[in-house]
Amino acid sequence: MLRSLLGVLSLSAFAHSRSVPRSTTITSSTPLGTAQGILDTSGATRYAVRYATAERWQESVVATNWQLPNDFTDPGALPLQCPQLDADDSTFSEDCLSILLYVPPRTPGPAAGNLNTLVWIHGGSFDSGSATGTGLDGSNLAVATNAIVAVLQYRLGALALLAPNGPPNLSVLDTMNAIKFLGQVLPSFGGTASAITLAGQSSGAGMIRTLLATPSAQSLFKSAILQSDPMDYGFLSTATQTILQDNFNSQLPCAATNTSCLSSLSVNTILSAYSNTNSAATSLAPSTGLGEPIRPVLDGTLVTSRLDSTAPFPATSKPLLLTTVLNDAGPTIYNVLFPGTSPVPADFFAPTVEETLGDERAQTVVDSSYYPIDPNGDEDARVPLQLLGTDYIWRCAVWTFAREWVGNGATGLAWVGVFEVGATYPDNEDIPYCLEEGVVCHEDDIEIVFGTVPSPTAAQAALTLEIQTRYRAFLENADPNVPGLATWSPATTDDVNALPLGGNATAVDVGACTPSFWGDAVQYDYQFYDI
Ligand SMILES: *[C@@H]1O[C@H](CO)[C@@H](O)[C@H](O)[C@H]1NC(C)=O
Ligand SMILES: *[C@@H]1O[C@H](CO)[C@@H](O)[C@H](O)[C@H]1NC(C)=O
Ligand SMILES: *[C@@H]1O[C@H](CO)[C@@H](O)[C@H](O)[C@H]1NC(C)=O
Repeated sequence: MLRSLLGVLSLSAFAHSRSVPRSTTITSSTPLGTAQGILDTSGATRYAVRYATAERWQESVVATNWQLPNDFTDPGALPLQCPQLDADDSTFSEDCLSILLYVPPRTPGPAAGNLNTLVWIHGGSFDSGSATGTGLDGSNLAVATNAIVAVLQYRLGALALLAPNGPPNLSVLDTMNAIKFLGQVLPSFGGTASAITLAGQSSGAGMIRTLLATPSAQSLFKSAILQSDPMDYGFLSTATQTILQDNFNSQLPCAATNTSCLSSLSVNTILSAYSNTNSAATSLAPSTGLGEPIRPVLDGTLVTSRLDSTAPFPATSKPLLLTTVLNDAGPTIYNVLFPGTSPVPADFFAPTVEETLGDERAQTVVDSSYYPIDPNGDEDARVPLQLLGTDYIWRCAVWTFAREWVGNGATGLAWVGVFEVGATYPDNEDIPYCLEEGVVCHEDDIEIVFGTVPSPTAAQAALTLEIQTRYRAFLENADPNVPGLATWSPATTDDVNALPLGGNATAVDVGACTPSFWGDAVQYDYQFYDI
């Protein structure tokens, strides 16, 4: 009783110190002006900064002065998020190209050297999320990894990817500008432009994959960590992007070239047109898929490679960490497809697979031994559907990418892992399946990595310690192996050597992620639709 009460008290004290800037203000001199930050209870200093400005639907321009976000004067104020659906207008602004920078305390002495920087790119299907999302306070991660943690924002939804008169890649350019801005100021905080590692989850990891496919981004970072990237979808083709763009443009009361008319549109008009296009996307163009239909485009200019065996990789050599979670498809199956708690009859399995994959791919899946279910039995069809969804959208697609990365691209090592312990993210709190013992749903890795699980169990605390120790080693030595922890072997072209992260298993079951099944016998969407 006392313990849990203390937990609540210390949590609310933390929340209080975050929102009310009564803590010490720290100033640092940067080439772009004086930075003001707030000393946090963890010992890290948090700086909020506007890294770029952008006219609506124009490319962003890197800031030339150090400024607080949103014309704030309080260095403790948190930046407004980018406009998005399901958020109150007062929480967002188009002036949203901001970074929260968490700087660890410096160990005094001559051997200090340069700090590494971990740039976190948040998820949210390219149309939601922010640097201030739950669990993304970078203080603990900065201290634990002795690295600067930079949590950045980029434009979302139509304002990012559906500029009526182009270009369709504004948020990719925003992300690159954020890293360029950091490159200029990191030395003032003990960091350096040459020691930047990108890390992100879900579409944030998808943004990093986009940058891996972008020749002009190669010099901006040295390594990357991709968590739960739904790689099955691939990029959009320019043809698909045009279909979505035309649908969006047709809803606006402006000609696509009438800049003054477009500039005068309310954000809500844009969001509601976006919502319509987003809902219609799969029927307009099946290659968009369900999860994040509006996403970066393989335009051949900025983004030049599908990152598989069909095209050369950008000339680069970067080590990668590639992770998924045990039940990435849990929320999709148990909340989106079949909400509620009732079991789904076994004979729903095959028709659901056909609906999703089309007859030919479905037949191969149903005939295989990987997702067994007796259509006349009384098993819950959600069980094999969850396994299938996780394999198809996330796990096997990531493993295929790992094999391509180390085999086809000659592009550096890759280590593959699966989170077998997680911490329920707020989005999953009302999904009973995600609360079951041993289930790790999409996003349940976020607070583990950041060390922000509210009242961690012993297993969660142990995994946070392991992950942060491995991330630190990866940032410092380009290798997540650390004496005292299980050996993490890099992926080869035959075997990705997936490491279970957390839990007691010594190996991850390969199952349908064997090289001859997903990506070969059954195509991923990016292959099937030939993006
Ligand atoms: C994306 O951005 C780059 C850089 O500004 C630009 O050169 C390119 O043409 C853009 N791509 C498309 C398809 O508009
Ligand atoms: C641009 O749109 C405005 C309405 O906002 C309209 O009055 C104006 O005539 C349009 N300009 C052109 C060149 O079509
Ligand atoms: C690992 O094994 C121990 C001892 O059997 C058990 O108490 C613990 O719950 C297991 N951890 C996980 C995450 O399964």
